[in-house]
Amino acid sequence: MTVVDFTHIWNTIPFPAFVINSNLNIIEGNSAAEQIVHTSQSHMIGKNLGLFFGKNSIVIETVKQVKKQNSSFSQYGIEISTLDRLSIECNLHINPLDKDSTNYLLIIQPTSFAQKISKSSTQRTAARSVTAMASMLAHEIRNPLAGISGAAQLLAMNASKDDVELAEMIGQETKRIGTLVDRFEIFSDVRPATRNAYNIHDILDRAIRSSSAGFGSGIEFIKFYDPSLPDASGDTDQMLQVFQNILKNACESIKNERGKIKIRTSYNSGVRYAVSGNKTEILPLQIDIIDNGKGIPSNIVDEIFEPFVSSKVNGTGLGLSLVSKIITSHGGLIECSSEESGTTFTFRLPVWKKSFKDKI
Ligand SMILES: Nc1ncnc2c1ncn2[C@@H]1O[C@H](COP(=O)(O)OP(=O)(O)OP(=O)(O)O)[C@@H](O)[C@H]1O
Ligand SMILES: [Mg+2]
Repeated sequence: MTVVDFTHIWNTIPFPAFVINSNLNIIEGNSAAEQIVHTSQSHMIGKNLGLFFGKNSIVIETVKQVKKQNSSFSQYGIEISTLDRLSIECNLHINPLDKDSTNYLLIIQPTSFAQKISKSSTQRTAARSVTAMASMLAHEIRNPLAGISGAAQLLAMNASKDDVELAEMIGQETKRIGTLVDRFEIFSDVRPATRNAYNIHDILDRAIRSSSAGFGSGIEFIKFYDPSLPDASGDTDQMLQVFQNILKNACESIKNERGKIKIRTSYNSGVRYAVSGNKTEILPLQIDIIDNGKGIPSNIVDEIFEPFVSSKVNGTGLGLSLVSKIITSHGGLIECSSEESGTTFTFRLPVWKKSFKDKI
């Protein structure tokens, strides 16, 4: 039997990790923790966390919250400062280590290491570049396109049979470009999403129904819904489009006959996302879409939310950038993890509040 050396594992975790007690005193810290608090492992033991991060820091506030709720808690995209005034953008993960909650594991994951948030900021950048591109396309292509197709129609009126065919071809091809421009137009809409209360399961069911009637026929859709989920807030047409795009990609990645897509919903109160300054958004609605397809090709995995990134012969590479634009305008987050055995997309969304409606 192999003996596992847990001290070694603990010290090879590349992020600062601490075990703390309910008084917020450090019981253990790993090697990466030494670097963030500038103190050796043996010296940090017994010291209070506030000594290194400041008494009123967000780290302390978050640990206190976990103590109160006795459940795991994650904060994404926040900024913390250490006493040497070094400011780090990171994700915080805090988990009670035992039932009686006397000890907690605190992991500080700098965002340079954190794929999750780097993807989500990529999403935001992608959304911006697509918006600019969309406006340009809509304005600069539509007008000449109308001119070309009008001229082709005029030519066809006095042309020989062969030339009529060519003129018709011009008409068909300009129509195709027009459709592509229409698809783009949605990107140039930069208004905030309308916020109506909707049931996420209704939207997921509609997306599943339309998938299984078309490109997803033969694929098994397995639902694990949390029936107590509160309403989400947003634009139902746009959210339907999000899940249709995700399910379409999932179906297209499945080549075998035992294709399965799991759709899971859950309520996770321990997720916050820093919006700006000290403001955070609570994103408790979680939707996981898990396929057993062939996974995202490794050469594009970091860029899938960028426009025009596609591994498919006829793909436009616009599906996920549209998803990213819609989720961003709904104040949500997307995470994605992929292996050769399948891909998971996780969505985190805010719940609907009456105050959203009042703002409209
Ligand atoms: N579930 C998935 N499994 C494997 N690869 C995926 C999955 N979802 C997305 N991808 C990869 O991400 C790329 C980008 O997806 P996106 O939806 O933006 O464009 P597309 O599907 O190629 O084209 P379009 O959506 O316009 O038809 C895909 O080409 C594919 O390589
Ligand atoms: Mg797609």
